[in-house]
Amino acid sequence: MYSSIKRWASPLWLASTLASSRVMAVPLNGTNSTAADIPRRVKEILSNMTFLEKLAQTRNYGGQLQADLSYDRDAFETFNLGNGGGSISFGTRGLPAYRATEIISSLIEELLEKDKHGIPIINVADSVNGITLGNGTLFPASISMGQSWNIDLFSKAVDVMSAENRAIGIHWVLSPELDLAREPRYGRVGEMYGEDWYHVSEFGTAYVDHMQAKDEKGFVRVATCMKHWVYGSGLAGINEAPIPGGLNDFWNVYAAPYIAVFKNSDPLSLMPSYSSYDHVPMHSDVQLTRDVIREDLKFDGLIISDWAGITQLHTTQFTASDMEVAGIQSLNITIDHEIGPPAYSGMEALTNLSSNQAIADRVTEAARRMLYLKFITRTFEQPVPDLTKVNSTLRSDTHQEVNLNMTRESMVLLKNDGILPLSESAREHIAVIGPMADVINPGHYAGSDYTFGSTILDGVRKIAGEVSHAKGCYRTNYTNFEELRDEAIAAAKDSKVAILALGAASVTLDSKNPYDRTDGEGYDHADLDFPGPQVDLLKAIVETGTPVIVVASGGQVFTMEYAAANASAIVHTWLQGELGGEVLAEILTGETNPSAKLSVSIPRLSSAIPIYYNYLPMERKVPAQMDYDWQFPLINRVARYPFGFGLSYTTFSVSDIDVANKDISIGDHVALSLVLTNTGDRKGKEVVQVYFRQAYPAIERPVKNLVRFSKVELDSGESTTIDFTIPVSELGYYVNGERRVDPDTYSFFVGTSSDDDDLSTLTVTVSE
Ligand SMILES: *[C@@H]1O[C@H](CO)[C@@H](O)[C@H](O)[C@H]1NC(C)=O
Ligand SMILES: *[C@@H]1O[C@H](CO)[C@@H](O)[C@H](O)[C@H]1NC(C)=O
Ligand SMILES: *[C@@H]1O[C@H](CO)[C@@H](O)[C@H](O)[C@H]1NC(C)=O
Ligand SMILES: *[C@@H]1O[C@H](CO)[C@@H](O)[C@H](O)[C@H]1NC(C)=O
Ligand SMILES: *[C@@H]1O[C@H](CO)[C@@H](O)[C@H](O)[C@H]1NC(C)=O
Ligand SMILES: *[C@@H]1O[C@H](CO)[C@@H](O)[C@H](O)[C@H]1NC(C)=O
Ligand SMILES: *[C@@H]1O[C@H](CO)[C@@H](O)[C@H](O)[C@H]1NC(C)=O
Ligand SMILES: *[C@@H]1O[C@H](CO)[C@@H](O)[C@H](O)[C@H]1NC(C)=O
Ligand SMILES: *[C@@H]1O[C@H](CO)[C@@H](O)[C@H](O)[C@H]1NC(C)=O
Ligand SMILES: *[C@@H]1O[C@H](CO)[C@@H](O)[C@H](O)[C@H]1NC(C)=O
Repeated sequence: MYSSIKRWASPLWLASTLASSRVMAVPLNGTNSTAADIPRRVKEILSNMTFLEKLAQTRNYGGQLQADLSYDRDAFETFNLGNGGGSISFGTRGLPAYRATEIISSLIEELLEKDKHGIPIINVADSVNGITLGNGTLFPASISMGQSWNIDLFSKAVDVMSAENRAIGIHWVLSPELDLAREPRYGRVGEMYGEDWYHVSEFGTAYVDHMQAKDEKGFVRVATCMKHWVYGSGLAGINEAPIPGGLNDFWNVYAAPYIAVFKNSDPLSLMPSYSSYDHVPMHSDVQLTRDVIREDLKFDGLIISDWAGITQLHTTQFTASDMEVAGIQSLNITIDHEIGPPAYSGMEALTNLSSNQAIADRVTEAARRMLYLKFITRTFEQPVPDLTKVNSTLRSDTHQEVNLNMTRESMVLLKNDGILPLSESAREHIAVIGPMADVINPGHYAGSDYTFGSTILDGVRKIAGEVSHAKGCYRTNYTNFEELRDEAIAAAKDSKVAILALGAASVTLDSKNPYDRTDGEGYDHADLDFPGPQVDLLKAIVETGTPVIVVASGGQVFTMEYAAANASAIVHTWLQGELGGEVLAEILTGETNPSAKLSVSIPRLSSAIPIYYNYLPMERKVPAQMDYDWQFPLINRVARYPFGFGLSYTTFSVSDIDVANKDISIGDHVALSLVLTNTGDRKGKEVVQVYFRQAYPAIERPVKNLVRFSKVELDSGESTTIDFTIPVSELGYYVNGERRVDPDTYSFFVGTSSDDDDLSTLTVTVSE
């Protein structure tokens, strides 16, 4: 039925080869138009498109390239039926960037030549810690960058990611992830920035602003996608604890970072989550997806399904009796674009419904949003990248320097009994032990984990006189444990200090080495201890009497009671990028002074969760009388290491905390100032944090809410004044979807972590 559609090929295409991709789609109104012209340009094209052509804009041609760079020509031909298409994706992660870009560019050009409206397909990919191809700059994962609390530095990292994505022809990325890492058992914490909505929204805003990098005419470099609207979590097993999952939880917690980024910035797309919220799948939720997004938040950008998110309405959530119903449900809630398996496509299932006016109208609207996205990213003007610039853009010296700066601020020093920085004599002979010592652990969405980069072992080799290396155990099982452990004990006994690298592998999705990963998407944690025999290994090494530095690696928190009590030092490196090993070595020697702070709380026990700092008062109510000792850990849930915590080799003090006016009205702002002093003997960076709490809100509200933070570098002995301006309107919250700000007493807590002992309090009264 599609064969009658006229295909044509320009002489330019016939003459072109894989290496010369210079075809330019002709913009409708010259190359000098601005973003303000886009709606008109979209309208002109739409008026000429058939139902099937518009429907084709809702479809993605995903997972193109295999590991050997081949692709399925038959599948490509089937896709390319003459109606055009919405988006295309590379496929396998970690492919050589130049070749993959060359091949996909040729497919994009081939599709463009056959599109009678001259509509190019847009290339879309994930971008968590860099591009998804090899050869790019491999940054630490989001959870690691979240620990930096350094928005300026993060912005530079995103500038690099944006430039590298555009260089390989990616005009649209499926990031940032604005979900809150409140559930430490979730395997995707590595993709998130942290547990606090304000902290996450600051990172999310910077990601959107810098990835999109608007030019003076309003065009963006690479469109973003906020996801996954919304990811929730249940609250486990606490007497009298609140029941999460209602409207107030939705507006004040899970949706809060999204709402803030909508307010602060201009994201171009949004992805609903796989989850259901209060039993309704987010891919078919009329109220929480369509009405909230389109009517309450007035977002007119594109909504893209998660991979197979529409399919699952039929196959997993069972709220759609077939794929047509699934397609209608998703279309009805204004999902505009689908990624997922071609064989189970909800949008494809609507092929014969052109006579249904409601569906036809919605398909037109969906195509309008896709065309807008293509115009604003200049995909019409530049459907494929300049292949001569790919190699020189990726991993340029500047990009590597930004990565180095970011990596230096993304590892958290959790404990230090004074052993760090290592003395010259300690460096004479170091044992490097553990199943994470000789791997790069980049996270599930990294472009690559095996072509370049430095491991912990590589890093220590650069700073030690002599190194003894022993694996100590396998990551997840006891095979040959005694033998491996005894080798490690011997190595430790011979050395001045033992670096013990423990953790969970979260390697690239397409890693050649996937066998014992326990972290990442689809790898959730029933237990938060170091996996397998690793704690037994730790105990054996501690018992040698050689001082032990535990280096944790993984996109997750670990319970580390034994290490907290018995190791000399602990560094959590999270998911290092390619520079993780050498930066760890800099931290060990003191060349880099650690400045990262936890963006997630670390619990004492796997069962004593949730442990996020911004809990509701009733979540941690301690009963007057404790009948059983074994209840103690759960009811007295204090974090082992709290949100906002992280050590430095210098010390800081916060003093002279004051507000300009303690009696203000609702329209005013709180003008807060303090003095930060570096009281130690070396240069360092500190993150000053401001939290607040309202005395008597209309609904139960968290005991603390982060509202500002600032990272400052000071020389030894140096002081600086830091000012924060906080409009009272930011102290509000939602009740049943309605925003309110109350006249009341507000406490502000100022200091260097979320722990009460690190905070000073002052009070402000707000009247009508
Ligand atoms: C280009 O757009 C402007 C409005 O932005 C319009 O006045 C003009 O006629 C258009 N030119 C063409 C060739 O379509
Ligand atoms: C774009 O503007 C420049 C000057 O600003 C002009 O020289 C050029 O002809 C214009 N191009 C088109 C296609 O309008
Ligand atoms: C619409 O299609 C007609 C006929 O194919 C063509 O002449 C015209 O230029 C098209 N307009 C747009 C905006 O593509
Ligand atoms: C890209 O990576 C491959 C290995 O995957 C390597 O052989 C090639 O030299 C790299 N190219 C560039 C330009 O760095
Ligand atoms: C579409 O949305 C309306 C609410 O606007 C709802 O009443 C209707 O049931 C929905 N239809 C489908 C098929 O989901
Ligand atoms: C559309 O109708 C044709 C002809 O009846 C049928 O072969 C095809 O399977 C239908 N497509 C869908 C997606 O239902
Ligand atoms: C880019 O680097 C690859 C090796 O990774 C090489 O094969 C290719 O020719 C280079 N392309 C250009 C345009 O320099
Ligand atoms: C890296 O950090 C250093 C020290 O703060 C700074 O001088 C340099 O400009 C940074 N490099 C880049 C590329 O941002
Ligand atoms: C233990 O893990 C290692 C590394 O993943 C693997 O090679 C070995 O087969 C595993 N042993 C068992 C009994 O599964
Ligand atoms: C620290 O080590 C000692 C001796 O091995 C052990 O008894 C103690 O339980 C350890 N502390 C923790 C908190 O595990």
